[in-house]
Amino acid sequence: MRTVLGVNLQPLNLPAMIPDRFTAFALITLLFTSFALLQSSVSAEDGRKLDFKADTAYEHVIVPILTSRCIGCHGADKAKGKFRLHTPEEITKSKTIVPDEEGVIPMVMRISLPGDDEDVMPPEDKDPLSAGQKKLIGWWVAEGASFDKKISELKVPDDINGILAGLVYSAAKQVVGKKAFSLPEPAGAADAGAVAAIEKSGVLIMQLAQDTKYLSVNAINVAKSFNDAQVKLLVPVKEHLTWLDVSRSGITDAAAGDLGQLGMLTKLHLENTSVTDKTLQQLGKLTRLEYLNLYATKVSDAGLEHLKNLKNLKKLYVWQTGVTEGGAKKLQEAIPGLDVNLGWKAPEAKPAEPKK
Ligand code: HEC
Repeated sequence: MRTVLGVNLQPLNLPAMIPDRFTAFALITLLFTSFALLQSSVSAEDGRKLDFKADTAYEHVIVPILTSRCIGCHGADKAKGKFRLHTPEEITKSKTIVPDEEGVIPMVMRISLPGDDEDVMPPEDKDPLSAGQKKLIGWWVAEGASFDKKISELKVPDDINGILAGLVYSAAKQVVGKKAFSLPEPAGAADAGAVAAIEKSGVLIMQLAQDTKYLSVNAINVAKSFNDAQVKLLVPVKEHLTWLDVSRSGITDAAAGDLGQLGMLTKLHLENTSVTDKTLQQLGKLTRLEYLNLYATKVSDAGLEHLKNLKNLKKLYVWQTGVTEGGAKKLQEAIPGLDVNLGWKAPEAKPAEPKK
């Protein structure tokens, strides 16, 4: 018997798991819940890191995986296999997260199968889940598959902690049928060998959403060992790489030439690294950048001069750098709509109330 993620793999008993047929009532409920999902995703913060104390394992970790990789077939629009996975109620009803008569948990078993197995989920003609995504689902189920517990209320082993620390929560991906961003789709998938080499270095590399071949790369998991040499591994996937997080890593200005080649980047995290204005000189080529985080780096006003052509830039973080308000203002004049975050500022002291 094979064992994957601590779960026994045994043959499935499919008929026993297919829920009763849907009643009209269930369908109406579905309509309402999917509408609520759409609504709630509009106001949620995009592209931020997880807050273990405030975020729930289900909504902030599991939902983004299911939404981007599963609910196109098991969701509001389609119920392949006669079940849906887009709300807690539907997941419960699907019986895919509870052991069957043979003690097998269908969801964990199906995602853990080898990529060429005809039962693997997502099906074999789709890209497989990343190793990290498989681990996260296995962890959530093993921890009781709670829909409301905060991450910090669950046991978080080191490997899971590492993956969670590298996750970027994005509500945008939860909007059914809407792309997370507006780049033209690349013609083909990224080179599998190049992706494997990146994965092998311990860096988290993931498809951004179900409906795109674009990739996100996150090095926070291996930030301590990640350095200029590893940035070279990213150049072969430059046509696909659109989100990159190398914050807290050991990269320096020596990687600037390689970073400057990653022309599809829309989001770049460089905070808490030792990069300087020399790197900004190269970043000035990344005209698709919308988000750039330079918090606690050695950049200055002179470096911002190189960013003036980044007309798509909407958010720039330069807290705890040499950048001044004057420098920020100058860049904002060149890039209309740019929000420059210089960090926390003490509120101006209120004038004392006149005494009566
Ligand atoms: C391209 C469509 C498609 C996608 C995407 C997809 N599935 Fe499926 N899934 C199916 C079909 C069709 C079946 C029914 C046939 C079968 O059992 O293989 C199925 C069956 C299943 C079953 C078996 C249910 C049971 O009762 O045994 C599970 C569990 C499952 N899917 C989970 C997932 C998960 C989790 C994802 C995302 C990681 C996913 N699926 C993505 C099409 C899809």
